Amino acid sequence: MTNVELGLPALPAKPYPAEVHERLAADARELIGRYPVARSALLPLLHLVQAEEGFVSPTGIRFCAEQLELTTAEVTAVATFYTMYRRRPAGKYHVGVCTNTLCAVLGGDQIFAELQDHLGVKNNETTADGEISIEHIECNAACDYAPVVMVNWEFFDNQTPESAKQLVDDLRAGHDPQPTRGARLCSFKETSRILAGFPDERPGAVDASGAGGTPSMAGLRLSKGEALPGAPGTKVVSPRHEGTEA
Ligand code: FES
Repeated sequence: MTNVELGLPALPAKPYPAEVHERLAADARELIGRYPVARSALLPLLHLVQAEEGFVSPTGIRFCAEQLELTTAEVTAVATFYTMYRRRPAGKYHVGVCTNTLCAVLGGDQIFAELQDHLGVKNNETTADGEISIEHIECNAACDYAPVVMVNWEFFDNQTPESAKQLVDDLRAGHDPQPTRGARLCSFKETSRILAGFPDERPGAVDASGAGGTPSMAGLRLSKGEALPGAPGTKVVSPRHEGTEA
């Protein structure tokens, strides 16, 4: 016998338990107070509820709607538009593999395929131990270090299938692998709370450089007519001021 979808509206989501609601409501008041119009706080509030459960649950959507006097449909429309809001629980470490064009052709597709086999999960799924979730993601604006893998939005540059598999093994073993640049890792829920706008408590995290390096600047240097370091003669573009009247 097959299930028949009657098209009835879903029952309202359960509220959070009282103590969770009270704690989150205090956080929400702080976030909402930063904006002249309450609904402008919706994106931070979605990160806040994601920090609670590891995803934006129907309960989280109900909470956001109540805090901002929006409908759950309005909140859902936003939560499902932005891909950083998850609809399934993330692992402690959410691993994003860039499979956008440049990363894909340089190995991102292969990394994603081999990681799925290695972990025994598919896109947007989480390992049974709750440690790793995996997702193929669009360009991370790190094409200069392609192929790129992110863990809780921190960069692991110039990956290979082998290095990516070693990375998830190290994460599961609690070895605290260091991102190529940027702050050291924390859990997905902790990352979500930082993204909601609360202080990053990790020592040195704010000062950790996530800036671009030499590959990031190569295009700019070439556009200025400069040669690349270690590659004399790679000057391919004349400086803009050359051959023009001052
Ligand atoms: S294509 Fe992967 S970071 Fe841009």
